[in-house]
Amino acid sequence: MSVLLTNIGELVTNDPEHGGSRQARPTGAGAPGSGGAGGLGIVTGAAAVIMEAGRVAWTGPAASAPAADVAVDLGGRSVIPGFVDSHSHTVFAGDRSAEFAARMTGEPYTGGGIATTVAATRAATEESLRARAQALVREMLAQGTTTVEIKSGYGQDVATEARTLRIARELTHETTYLGAHTVPAEYADDRPGYLRLVTGPMLAACAPHARWVDVFCEPAAPTAFDEEESRAVLLAGIRAGLGARVHGNQLSAGPGVRLAVEVGAASVDHCTHLTGADVDALAGSWSAGPDGLRGSGTVATLLPAVEFSTRSPYPDARRLLAAGVPVALATDCNPGSGYSSSMPFVVALAVREMGMSPAEALWSATAGGAVALRRDDVGHLGIGARADLTVLDAPSHTYLAYRPGVPLVSEVWKDSARVILPR
Ligand code: NIG
Ligand code: FE
Repeated sequence: MSVLLTNIGELVTNDPEHGGSRQARPTGAGAPGSGGAGGLGIVTGAAAVIMEAGRVAWTGPAASAPAADVAVDLGGRSVIPGFVDSHSHTVFAGDRSAEFAARMTGEPYTGGGIATTVAATRAATEESLRARAQALVREMLAQGTTTVEIKSGYGQDVATEARTLRIARELTHETTYLGAHTVPAEYADDRPGYLRLVTGPMLAACAPHARWVDVFCEPAAPTAFDEEESRAVLLAGIRAGLGARVHGNQLSAGPGVRLAVEVGAASVDHCTHLTGADVDALAGSWSAGPDGLRGSGTVATLLPAVEFSTRSPYPDARRLLAAGVPVALATDCNPGSGYSSSMPFVVALAVREMGMSPAEALWSATAGGAVALRRDDVGHLGIGARADLTVLDAPSHTYLAYRPGVPLVSEVWKDSARVILPR
């Protein structure tokens, strides 16, 4: 059964067919980096046809829409591609609200609190971990997120890491093995021993449930990993068939970005402290090779809900955009450094605090996230894309930042199912 969604006030497609961009490195007039909305491939007075298989069959002006089995009138509301949240840690137990409260009265964020969540997660039952993760993913969907990446990293032993990834796999294909989140207390005096575990038996148990490998590369945090350790973790994961991603340059201008580019990571996330050489390395990862072909480089994924929640300076998005680096936005939803599941909140922060235009921020939260996950079937509404779309009770996407904190998402379409949300 095909469905015609019609009377769409503003349809954001990110589709080149409508002047949008879903390339890794949008350039030219109207591209997201130019500050305009042209790169979003906007159609006003629009319609879209969804096929039974949950794929986009057509988008364009409502007046020229083809016939479909069923028509749904969206009453002039806007439609955007479902958000692609390319970084989250949603399988965990315990509570760290006291740590947040302490930060708000002056304590710094060091990453040390991760151990609290590790203890709680190890002690939790599989059912309670699953129930909480399901609830968080439902919460994300209700805020317009239709693709989510989920990391392990609060187990830090073989059984709990594997259990975390099994649960995550029930919720998404985008699962990431982060055994190297921190060195757990029992290995404090034997870091090489933990490295052997992470790159050996733990990797073997986790790889079947994971698409990606990640590492918290942060020499400035005593429990995180230095350059050499991080390289060993990433290369072991790559040898096991996983794609690489990196937590880098969150607390200092460390080696994370350069290492991510070196190993061909899809994304380096945080990027709060960057040197000029880091920006050049990211930009260079997208340049054409000797054959003239542009490869898949490393996306800079910015996580401004973390800077909000740790009261830290925000990353310099404009510097990355000016250098032509593809930027993604994600929540990093986790109990420690930022416990928000809301992509609209992240978009609002990116606009207000990082100088991104509403169009740039929306592109980064949809197409940018898809590039960071090396997916071409989500983050846009071109023909053949997954018909994952988010309906906003607003005349345009600008309202995401213009009306922060307001539940504008009124319905979400995913896998041909329509989820209508209460207002
Ligand atoms: O992405 N940087 C490391 N990991 C998480 C924080 C996890 C925590 O504090 O529990 C992050 O910010
Ligand atoms: Fe994270």
